[in-house]
Amino acid sequence: MFGLFNRKKEKKGFNITSRYGNFIQKENETVLEGALRQNILLPHNCRVGTCRRCEVFINGSTVLACQFSSDSDITLEYNKQWHKANIDNITQLGNDIIKVGLFAPSIEFDEEQEGQYIDLTFDKQKSSQRKYSIVNINEKHLILHVKKHPRGEVSNLLADSRHGQEIFISQPQGEFRLPNFNTTPSTGLAIATGSGMGVALTLLDKLCSKYLINPTIISTSRKKSLGKYHDLLISDFKKKHPITKDYCMNIDEVNNYLKSSQESNATYIVCGTPELNQLFFDNRVLIEKSRSSIVQESF
Ligand code: FES
Repeated sequence: MFGLFNRKKEKKGFNITSRYGNFIQKENETVLEGALRQNILLPHNCRVGTCRRCEVFINGSTVLACQFSSDSDITLEYNKQWHKANIDNITQLGNDIIKVGLFAPSIEFDEEQEGQYIDLTFDKQKSSQRKYSIVNINEKHLILHVKKHPRGEVSNLLADSRHGQEIFISQPQGEFRLPNFNTTPSTGLAIATGSGMGVALTLLDKLCSKYLINPTIISTSRKKSLGKYHDLLISDFKKKHPITKDYCMNIDEVNNYLKSSQESNATYIVCGTPELNQLFFDNRVLIEKSRSSIVQESF
């Protein structure tokens, strides 16, 4: 019913139905490329078939949307097992960010899963669900940093929720974690946009506790409405790691920094917009040439 790059069909595109929006995938592009071309944000990260963040079910088979090109109209399904959890803390962090504490008794967590993401929904029969990265884990308790979007159904429900309210979450997934290093890193840089700063600093803190490194934080949101949230997190981080350098940059400035700084043996922890991730993807060769590594997550 579907297959790779069937060029015999005369049809110029196929209708793809998904909970994130419906779109047309052309014959010469992958499902993910078709979605992004029409501004449908299917979950994804690496785009090269390694992170599995774009995994979907089609007629019961699993495919990676960044690698798969359909030759028929299809529906993308996202099956998952839901676990009950309860909200045990809601705290405002800056203007648009809330800290959400969850208690999830039926999931076995370990601290290595900090940085991974969970899917979260208030009603597992409905399609409204969002992915949120785990900023902290303390046994069965999780902390998320959630950006409130004016039309974001899940984020607004979270902001208005009460202590003890029941929700549903998936098992943690994803590859946003520190790699196994062949050589000790000399520098760690967290580069983040918006609510990605919380989880980026969690990984930078882990790096600092393992290795004697010089930490650097680059905020790409500080001049905007999320500035207070970033200031708060960065000032807490600097209390623990006083030698930390921090900068506020836009995407072009980050690009110039990457090209001019030539950090060697560094670890770049990147969590932000697809644009920020694309920048690091484009500079991957340069970064790897200087024996540095990148850990990336996008939202
Ligand atoms: S495997 Fe498809 S985006 Fe990473």
